[in-house]
Amino acid sequence: MSIQWFPGHMAKAKREAKEKMKLIDVVIELLDARIPLSSRNPVIDEITGGKPRIIILNKADLADPEITKAWKAYFESEGHHVLEADAQKGKGVQGIGPAVREEAAGMIEKMKRKGMNPRAIRALILGIPNVGKSTLINRLASKKIARIGDRPGVTKSQQWIKVGKEMELLDTPGILWPKFDDEAVGYRLALTGAIKEELFDFQDSSAFLLKELKKSYPELLKSRYSLEELPDDLLALFDEIGRRRGCLISGGNIDYDRTAELIFRDFRAGKFGRVSLEQPAD
Ligand code: G4P
Repeated sequence: MSIQWFPGHMAKAKREAKEKMKLIDVVIELLDARIPLSSRNPVIDEITGGKPRIIILNKADLADPEITKAWKAYFESEGHHVLEADAQKGKGVQGIGPAVREEAAGMIEKMKRKGMNPRAIRALILGIPNVGKSTLINRLASKKIARIGDRPGVTKSQQWIKVGKEMELLDTPGILWPKFDDEAVGYRLALTGAIKEELFDFQDSSAFLLKELKKSYPELLKSRYSLEELPDDLLALFDEIGRRRGCLISGGNIDYDRTAELIFRDFRAGKFGRVSLEQPAD
C-alpha cells in the first residue's frame, strides 16, 4: 500500500470507484478469506449502488477450509453469489466467468427483449490493498489478454480486457480503503498484509496472533515451535518461542522485537498452516 487513507484519499477512491461503476454491469468484490469482514470496505454497498455483485473469498489456500465454508454460507444467506479462490495458483478462478454471466442474465434478457444484440458483460474488481486484485486480473486475462481499447464516453486510460467471449474486465481495479474501526480489525489487516509494515507494531500484532492461535489453533502453534504445552501467560509463551528460536540479547534475555517479528513473518509465510482470523460465529 503506497498511500495512507486520509479522508481526502477515501473521498477520491470513492469518487473514482463510483465513476467506474457507471461503465459496469457486474462488480467482483474481492475479500481475504482469512478475514472476510475486516477486509470488507465499510461503504461497499453505497459504492456499488445495487449493481449485481459476486464475492470472491480470495487467498482461500491460506485460510481454514471449514471456516471458509462457513463464510461462504454466511454471505450466501445475505443473497450474494460467493466463490472461493486462490488467485495466485488460479484455483476457483474458472468459476468467475459463469458467475458473472449468471448475475448479468437479467440485463442480457432485457437487451434481447428490446431487440438489441447483447454486448459483452462488463465487470470491475473492487477490494482493499493487497487482497489480490492485480493477481486476479492477470489470471483472468491469462494468455488471451486482449486490449479492446477506449469506448466512447470512457476516460482514455480505461482499458478493457477480454475474458472469454462474453465478458470484459476493466484492467484497473477499484482500490478501496479498509475498515479502521477497531483494534482487532487493525491487527487482522496488519497480519494479512493490507497495512504497511512501518505503520504497526510487531509486538502488538504478534501478541494478538498468539492469542488467536492459542484459542483456535493450539495444535498448529505447538507444532510450529515444537512446544509440548502452551503456557497460560502470553509473556511466558513469547519467552518460550524466543528461547527456542534463539532470539536472545545479552545476558540470555529474550529479544522481544525479534521474537515478535519472527512470529509475524511465520504467519505471513503461512508457516502455521491454514489459519482464519475471523469466524462468522464471532
Ligand atoms: P492487490 O492488487 O489487491 O494490491 O494485490 P496483489 O494482486 O498485488 O497481491 C498481493 C499479494 O498477494 C501478492 O504477493 C500475491 O501474489 C498474493 N496473492 C494474491 N492472491 C493470492 C492467493 O489467492 N493466495 C495466496 N497465497 N497469495 C495470493 P506478494 O507480491 O508476494 O506480496 P506479499 O503478500 O508476499 O507481500
